[in-house]
Amino acid sequence: MAVTLTINGQSVPASPGLSIFDQAESLGVDVPTSCRKQGKCKECMVEVVEGMALLSPVTEAERHLKGAFRLSCQTTVTAADGHVRCHTMRRGQMRIERHALGLPLGARSFPVDPAVTRDGERILIDGVEVERCWGPIHGLAADLGTTTVVLRLLDLETGELIADASFENPQRFAGAEVMSRIAYDTEHPGRLLLRTLAGYLSHAIEKFPVDPKSIYEMVVVGNSTMRDLFFRHSVYTIGQTPYRSITEIEMAEGRRTTTALVQTGLRSLLPIHPRARVYGAPIISGHVGADAAACMLAIDLAHEDRLVAIMDIGTNTELILGNRHRILAASCPAGPAFEGGAIACGMPALEGAIEDVAIGGDGEFRLRVIGDGQPEGICGSGLVDILSELLRTGRMNAMGRFEDGEPRVTLWRGPQPDESIYLQESDVNELAQAKGANVAGLHVVFSSYGIDFGDVDAFYLAGGFGRHLKVDASKRIGLIPDMDAAKIVQAGNTAIEGAAIALLSRAKRQELEELVRKVEHCRLETHPRFFDYFVEGCQFKPVEAIPCAR
Ligand code: FES
Repeated sequence: MAVTLTINGQSVPASPGLSIFDQAESLGVDVPTSCRKQGKCKECMVEVVEGMALLSPVTEAERHLKGAFRLSCQTTVTAADGHVRCHTMRRGQMRIERHALGLPLGARSFPVDPAVTRDGERILIDGVEVERCWGPIHGLAADLGTTTVVLRLLDLETGELIADASFENPQRFAGAEVMSRIAYDTEHPGRLLLRTLAGYLSHAIEKFPVDPKSIYEMVVVGNSTMRDLFFRHSVYTIGQTPYRSITEIEMAEGRRTTTALVQTGLRSLLPIHPRARVYGAPIISGHVGADAAACMLAIDLAHEDRLVAIMDIGTNTELILGNRHRILAASCPAGPAFEGGAIACGMPALEGAIEDVAIGGDGEFRLRVIGDGQPEGICGSGLVDILSELLRTGRMNAMGRFEDGEPRVTLWRGPQPDESIYLQESDVNELAQAKGANVAGLHVVFSSYGIDFGDVDAFYLAGGFGRHLKVDASKRIGLIPDMDAAKIVQAGNTAIEGAAIALLSRAKRQELEELVRKVEHCRLETHPRFFDYFVEGCQFKPVEAIPCAR
């Protein structure tokens, strides 16, 4: 017998004494590294999904890792037989939303007027010379999400998109959610989260078809935690009530005039021009970040007279409501259920995820799987579909109980019983609570504004999850308000769009700063009716305005 090592789906008989990194290389699997297997860069992490006990003991270089993560350059297979399965932090093809759709025309009709300009061979940032060269000048927009990272490379003289890139945020070794990342960063000094992300960002930048040193400005958006970690700020206070970023605290104390952040390319640990300016867009609050701010820019809220709402559903759902006269925002602590977390057969939108579900007239499930292969789990849009179809066919009631008395519904039977894909009532409870938090947020924000759902002219569903939802199914289970579908815009990645706009236009960047100052933040936890709204929202039924809330 021998040990079989499977890495990123490719298998090889494990060679004793050879590291997982070396064996991955022999299979042609690309393992990120900046330290040539010295145990220093921490980029070569793998997640071990089977056979952890068959591996060599954890080394000193891996003390920062917990759970199923190992450094592949430090790990060998030591057992005599069995199967080790692992993958790099790039788990196959994740569906990552790079584009924005359905935005008002006005948002793109602005003159290209970047902070980086040229005067002959002189390259200037806000009029200050940083380089002399005749080559092109580029800018980089980055959306640093907890789960995914998206980059856009732009020509700053023409505004043209040169290339884009996206990858899973490798920081997930420190937990899937913002709160776990905050706890990890607080417990582990040494900026491991920053260094890991910077390593992945650097590799992505080096793959662009331009000299990285021709990137003279970078605009970074992302939730407050991701942004502040990138700018080397402590995120401890974001995890403690009243959940404020250091930049908000300093602003309240009069020590800064904006929550925006600036540093040099050199300090960012990226291969861009060392004197490049890296601008972190302003945040709205500790849990309504620069990504939400960028979204306001992308939908042209500063010039909007109509009433519009923005909902970015995620582990922390962000809500914005208003127009150029008044803007309210809130964040809803929904948790990871709708991203597949805490669900027995849940998974991210990777290959193998069930993303689309229907129940036919024969009562059988019809499934669509990302990549068209064998199902391995259910991602968020699939979960919404299942709930909706079970409701529609009377197999589940509004309280989330299965009507046939069984504890689980099986969607797909695998060759082995443990390979079957199912939804159980405890999963439904998790989804009900995630939905309850979102519905409570909607009611608090709309009632604080003094309007009901029918009063908005456009309802933007921002983000990758919102892009792939079925609107009818989402309305049926009460994940989004029961409103005219013609008003709902599945807008995709508005955050990267806003970042790109702020990169190309100084006027728009100023507009962004002013928009953020205008936002009134609603704190859900202190609203007197939050708990009532939450309990109501846990039921699977269409969400309508609560008349007495006005
Ligand atoms: S390759 Fe750098 S830590 Fe393993």
